Amino acid sequence: MTDGAPESTRGEAVRQHFLQPDPYLSGRFNIALRAEIIAEFVGERSGLSVLDIGCGDGSLSRQFLEAGSHVTHLDLSSEMLRRAKMNVSSDASERAQFVEGSFLDRSLTEQLSRKRFDLVLCVGVLAHVGDLETAAARLAELTEAGGRVIVQFSDYQQPSYWPTLAYQFLRNRVRNPYGYELRPTPARRVNNALSAQGLRVQAERRYWTPLPVVRRFVPDARLDAFQRFTLEHTLLSRFGSEVMWLMTR
Ligand SMILES: C[S@@+](CC[C@H](N)C(=O)[O-])C[C@H]1O[C@@H](n2cnc3c(N)ncnc32)[C@H](O)[C@@H]1O
Repeated sequence: MTDGAPESTRGEAVRQHFLQPDPYLSGRFNIALRAEIIAEFVGERSGLSVLDIGCGDGSLSRQFLEAGSHVTHLDLSSEMLRRAKMNVSSDASERAQFVEGSFLDRSLTEQLSRKRFDLVLCVGVLAHVGDLETAAARLAELTEAGGRVIVQFSDYQQPSYWPTLAYQFLRNRVRNPYGYELRPTPARRVNNALSAQGLRVQAERRYWTPLPVVRRFVPDARLDAFQRFTLEHTLLSRFGSEVMWLMTR
């Protein structure tokens, strides 16, 4: 399936893929680092209304729930939402909402955005979306004026990402595990789409992505240490392909 496929067809392929979440969740050595960067970007974590788009098992937004914020978990995959629900403590359950569907679906986002969110997380999602411009419009609609959006994507323009691209290209000749093409997300294109909707980058963190083939053999703790090293090293960080942006509307 290509980027030219209708969004609903693509969305169904994405949903099918993430209805079996274990391959993704078991290979997620970078989740602690992502959560820490989000915490650093946001500062005070209580008293917010948070929308976690493509929430997966809720690992990134749980810190807000536990700090007393309200979190709406939105995901295409009912199985991901089930895992996210299971991970919510009984103390926090009154502040947690779970919505199954696509954030590209206008009727769904119109309902959700009746009360806009202070903070919208969109981490690990843009590569699965066909139409970046629609995604950017929905993100802006869902965010309160003056509110914040955190997006994450892989910057295809960085040479440090090219070995991963080459690996994905070759792997897809044999078997594409997704059943659809991941959307290329060069930083300039992502920024153009988001800034056209009034979202401005306020802070950026970059680090390197280890090659998928390396991930199979190296323990998670070492992969995590490698990513932290590339994040903290000024020069290496500049050439990192994994990007997290704090944006304001
Ligand atoms: C790679 S996972 C990332 C999960 C989580 N944010 C994390 O960082 O671990 C992508 C998630 O986004 C969800 N997703 C993809 N496209 C979506 C869409 N259009 N609307 C809502 N959820 C979507 C998938 O079902 C999946 O759970």
